[in-house]
Amino acid sequence: MSQFVAQSKTQYDGLYEESIKNPEKFWSDFAENEFIWQKKWDKILDFDLRKPSIKWFEGAQLNITENCIDRHLDTIGDQTAIIFEPNNPNEAPQHISYCDLAINVNKTANMLKALGAKKGDRICIYMPMTPELAYTVLACARIGAIHSVVFAGFSSKSLSDRILDAQCTMLVTADGGYRGQKITPLKEIADQALENTDCIKQVVVLKRTGINITMQEGRDVWWHNEFNKANDECPAEVMDAEDMLFILYTSGSTGKPKGMVHTCAGYMVYTNFSFRNVFQYQQGDVYWCTADIGWITGHSYILYGPLSAGATTLMFEGVPSYPDMGRFWQIIEKHKVNIFYTAPTAIRALASCDLSFVNSYNLSSLKTLGTVGEPINLEAWQWYDEHIGKKECPIVDTWWQTETGGIMISSIAGVTEDIPTFATLPLPGIQPCLMDDSGNEIQEKESEGKLCIKYPWPSMARTIYGDHQRFKETYYNTFEGNYFTGDGAKRDKNGNYRITGRVDDIVIVSGHNLGTAEIENAINEHPRVAESAVVGYPHSIKGNAIYAYITPRGEFDDSAIPSLQKEINELVSGTIGPISKPDKIQFTNGLPKTRSGKIMRRILRKIAENELDKLGDTSTLLNPECVQEIIDGRLTD
Ligand code: WT7
Repeated sequence: MSQFVAQSKTQYDGLYEESIKNPEKFWSDFAENEFIWQKKWDKILDFDLRKPSIKWFEGAQLNITENCIDRHLDTIGDQTAIIFEPNNPNEAPQHISYCDLAINVNKTANMLKALGAKKGDRICIYMPMTPELAYTVLACARIGAIHSVVFAGFSSKSLSDRILDAQCTMLVTADGGYRGQKITPLKEIADQALENTDCIKQVVVLKRTGINITMQEGRDVWWHNEFNKANDECPAEVMDAEDMLFILYTSGSTGKPKGMVHTCAGYMVYTNFSFRNVFQYQQGDVYWCTADIGWITGHSYILYGPLSAGATTLMFEGVPSYPDMGRFWQIIEKHKVNIFYTAPTAIRALASCDLSFVNSYNLSSLKTLGTVGEPINLEAWQWYDEHIGKKECPIVDTWWQTETGGIMISSIAGVTEDIPTFATLPLPGIQPCLMDDSGNEIQEKESEGKLCIKYPWPSMARTIYGDHQRFKETYYNTFEGNYFTGDGAKRDKNGNYRITGRVDDIVIVSGHNLGTAEIENAINEHPRVAESAVVGYPHSIKGNAIYAYITPRGEFDDSAIPSLQKEINELVSGTIGPISKPDKIQFTNGLPKTRSGKIMRRILRKIAENELDKLGDTSTLLNPECVQEIIDGRLTD
């Protein structure tokens, strides 16, 4: 076992101390010993967080796929790299060895090249959770094309926005994707998206479901036709450390999603480091992260982290509820999963079902459990511990973000203590701090404030694609010289962190990061909407749910409400995706505003949360009378 993987609390303390005392030596020693480089770096770290400008391993050359694939071939080539479990439990799973992975990724890479892709191009990937999705992501990395994976639950509008923002020239998609009993018509959605984009020259279509689609001559080709022609050896493109590896979009507090940019070397180094430490992966373990590759969790902890560590990583195409609510537990038994990493929202949904769904399966292979995406409440934590871990598995509550690239604050499985509802301690190399409202760092150990990170780490996002100014304003202006996470946190006397939730206009619904402004923009498109305000409120399964307040335009009577609600839901679904649909829509004659005309979302949030005694002073509002109207008309469960 590497000296960089903590095996005891003392070793963790030692690593942490070294990583803070001399971060550059720490990361250079780790990077030197644990990866293959085509050329070593000239300088470990060069940064100025006020600009911000961040460069890790400058001068180094590498290809991440040589680290995720080629280097394993002589040692563990026959070991399974990816277990593919299809949506339908009656369809056979696939065990893809590292040797098979090499062949498939190389063929895919040659296919993309033959179709015109080259280093630096942006390739959009809009695919279901099939092995070909993994091949395509890795093939992009192989040839130095920048992948932009768009979650296959997003609408055509979201897809076209992302394609346009990154000026992608190629799209890889599928005819459709299985999700439980349903099929998502991915190619049809993509066709709609492409009506509004002219940068895509080539579309590659995987046949997954066999549903009817139309192929556009000269633009669309079938995956199988092109793949079968491709050669299985493709040299890895030589990449500079700071070359872009991928763009991944995340919601922002204005309507426009932010294309977070991650670069080759730092991202590789830190996803590998954090994967091995947090999950304590041992050779031979079967590891399963239930996320979709369309999110950062899938990028870092289904693909790059586990594969660079030579792990066996499971990819599940389906949903937890199909064919029934026992599906996750059935998969754990079937593939003897040792490490299981999922989201609190899934845990809460599964905990609300009859226990017989769990108890019908043998879960004794499990050694470690993990959660990610939002704060986990005590009840859900205890259920996970008792019924899934049988009180014998450590639970790692991993706090991180699309922007951070890798896990930042988490216990280390079986090594450092886990504390229910606490993400606990920072990983080596990570320097969190809490800030007060006047922008000063809080020195007391036991405290509460806004969570920042005060020193660079290798996998941090480098910019927002095409908008460095927005990157600076969003993350580096609030607390100069520090990365601001947008989260609030508490710290206990031993330095353990408990994330309390977002302190900005982002709401985490079922683990998905949604920008309220983006939802408002979609709602405002409706001709009968004059104005809207969207807030989050606590929800027992989803963590948070969406409450939309709308002032209608023109003549309005209550009989119009049901059809309007339906149309607005469809509009939001169609514009962003079904995950963003409001749970409650209330029509009102006015929204509370400051004298300068700014909507007071704080008041609306309190009403949605049913905390009517915490509205504060409303008398200074421009239109205080609307508050009572909203309270009287509020929607409760
Ligand atoms: C936001 C980032 C990181 C992959 C999934 C989400 C919340 C994430 C935790 C956790 C409390 C958490 C934060 C964060 N979050 N993990 N363990 N405990 N909150 O990535 O979509 O970029 O969202 O998710 O609010 O800022 P994301």
